[in-house]
Amino acid sequence: MSVGISIEHLTKVFIKDKNQFRAVDDVHLSVSKGELVTFLGPSGCGKTTLLRMIAGFETPTAGRILFDDRDVTEIMVNKRDIGFVFQNYALFPHMTIFDNVAYGPRARKLSETTIRQKVSDSLALVGLPNVAARYPNQLSGGEQQRIALARVLAMEPQVLLMDEPLSNLDAKLRIQMRIEIRRIQKQLGLTCLYVTHDQKEALTLADRIVVMNKGRVEQVDSPFGLYANPATLFVADFIGQANVLKGIVRDATEKSVTVDLFEKPYTVRALPHSRYQPGNLVSLVVRPESLRLGPVGGNSMAGCVQLRTFVGDRLEYEVTLPDGRMIHVEEPYMTNTPVWNEGDQVGVIVSAPDIVALAD
Ligand SMILES: Nc1ncnc2c1ncn2[C@@H]1O[C@H](COP(=O)(O)OP(=O)(O)OP(=O)(O)O)[C@@H](O)[C@H]1O
Ligand SMILES: [Mg+2]
Repeated sequence: MSVGISIEHLTKVFIKDKNQFRAVDDVHLSVSKGELVTFLGPSGCGKTTLLRMIAGFETPTAGRILFDDRDVTEIMVNKRDIGFVFQNYALFPHMTIFDNVAYGPRARKLSETTIRQKVSDSLALVGLPNVAARYPNQLSGGEQQRIALARVLAMEPQVLLMDEPLSNLDAKLRIQMRIEIRRIQKQLGLTCLYVTHDQKEALTLADRIVVMNKGRVEQVDSPFGLYANPATLFVADFIGQANVLKGIVRDATEKSVTVDLFEKPYTVRALPHSRYQPGNLVSLVVRPESLRLGPVGGNSMAGCVQLRTFVGDRLEYEVTLPDGRMIHVEEPYMTNTPVWNEGDQVGVIVSAPDIVALAD
């Protein structure tokens, strides 16, 4: 049975070099039953510390953690009914896969028939029904990681916590495994918190993403929401790639802002909580894929191609603008796509509705 999670004012202060250091700073979050939430942020922003507090490995300095209505803040790790998958999934090397997966259910003193059933169900779930008799060193890294997951699933946890579980795997296997994890999590309706610093992983897996920075939550939203409406420059930069240009506000309505960019007006998207004052500078978040290159003139910005990279399905350009700033442009490549050369003078065509303005 899965539970919802509420995190209230959760804070962890460490003593670092004799100073107090807020590794996790006043975090609030509600996670619904069956939801998969990823925590995304740079190294040291407090992701692991937050997860360890939810698991019960770390005592919060302040705040509360609730599983449904049950306050678990003071409850011991082994009484919280959580499954935890770490980056280092260390299986017991001297035990068969069966015994590895059966370890938790045996500790609970379940009957041998029930244990057999749980082990075979868990191995089937992770797509490895026939490896029970083998030893860990007879499996590949990806298979071992699946067994680590099966071992946790055999405990039928209320909450599944995962901390960079795929970072030891190669790129292809990582992509395969994240699809598998998502499938299993949905099939079981498990509430899952998943830590990663890989934004692609966060985007593919999550119902919602929590972007963290220096112990604090910057923004919580769906992958689409974060990508289209980043609330801060930090988020814009962390999710996908972003060019940030400065424009001057002419005029604003509830939904849109008209800004001057290199002396031309563009009507771009406004954010609900931003205040736009005519005459003020704003930051414009321009995704590389919302730019196109064309001949100089018309309603485009003047640019000069500095670098062109062909990566198969698309062309990537680094282009300098009149103020010397470099922007990154990505164009899908098809047979009739014009190809520009380094040194070419070009017009940079902007899709204004795809641009979002952040008030400074
Ligand atoms: N036991 C501890 N004592 C003192 N400081 C700690 C302790 N554990 C973590 N920290 C500090 O708290 C901060 C957050 O650490 P945490 O491990 O939560 O980061 P993270 O977001 O998981 O980073 P990464 O992506 O590198 O795993 C870091 O600056 C770290 O040095
Ligand atoms: Mg960590």
